[in-house]
Amino acid sequence: MSLKVTLSALDLIGRTPLIALDRIHNGPGRLLAKAEFMQPGGSVKDRAARAIVLAAREDGRLAPGASVVEMTSGNMGAGLAVACAALGHPLVVTMSAGNSPQRARMLEALGAEVVLVPQVDGAPGQVTGADVNAAADAAQRIATERRGYYVDQFHASEGVQAHRETTGPEIWEQSSGRVDAWVAAVGTGATFLGVAAALRERNPRVICAAVEPEGCQPLAGLPITRHRHLIQGTSYGSVPPHWIGSQMDLSIPVTDEEVERWRRLLATKEGLHVGYSAAANVCATVALLSSGRLAADANAVTVLCDTGMKY
Ligand SMILES: Cc1ncc(COP(=O)(O)O)c(C=O)c1O
Repeated sequence: MSLKVTLSALDLIGRTPLIALDRIHNGPGRLLAKAEFMQPGGSVKDRAARAIVLAAREDGRLAPGASVVEMTSGNMGAGLAVACAALGHPLVVTMSAGNSPQRARMLEALGAEVVLVPQVDGAPGQVTGADVNAAADAAQRIATERRGYYVDQFHASEGVQAHRETTGPEIWEQSSGRVDAWVAAVGTGATFLGVAAALRERNPRVICAAVEPEGCQPLAGLPITRHRHLIQGTSYGSVPPHWIGSQMDLSIPVTDEEVERWRRLLATKEGLHVGYSAAANVCATVALLSSGRLAADANAVTVLCDTGMKY
């Protein structure tokens, strides 16, 4: 008799449920959300992390047992820690000190060495583009010193591909092809772009909306009036390197106050304690469904990027 077992944590990544958030939005249309917080590293980034590490091993950029080094706001680090533990690589992560301390603790618990990099112009809980660049410079330096593999997630195309090959097709299958809109906040853009590509390959009419903090909407082409915002892991004040503007139909602004309110509603009405970008995504999706731009029976899909436990 064969055992029905999962062979490693890597095989727990993906195939997340698509949840109908009917308690916080009961029309017009339906709000469907991908439960990415259920992955072993606790976030949507597990998919990109697995894809990047496997590709680097496959083509020899990452030798067996060699160190992996990356700059992270926490979630990519957790995804990499899962992949590195399962595949036998030491992991060093650099992180802006502005991210919540719980993130560093979680990474250390997963076996990573965490190097905190002082903030340049942000504040605790509010990480800016300059803060991220400082952490990235540190990662690059450490990778050179230790002859490790520098992940460089903002330039790694495997992240976009991972969402094109897994998240997007899962959404299509779980909704029986009834997707009218796709809504997501943008960090590297891997989630937004990969899913948008997969859905539009199947139905070019799917409306794709990015989520950006009010006052920090470079994707919408607006001048930045406010660098700091609550949506950790996204919207660093510039257009990410992989960005394809034609995949975005609109950018939906959200305020910190709205994000706080929807985060609380998700917890108290749906029983889903998720992070700020998840709440921003839900807030923006409700705005789109309520805007009159979609049919009254439309399905709008978004992503619950990570768990709220580490904020
Ligand atoms: C909490 C959170 N939400 C959303 C994202 C954005 O994901 P992506 O890099 O695929 O755009 C990230 C990325 O790190 C994140 O940490």
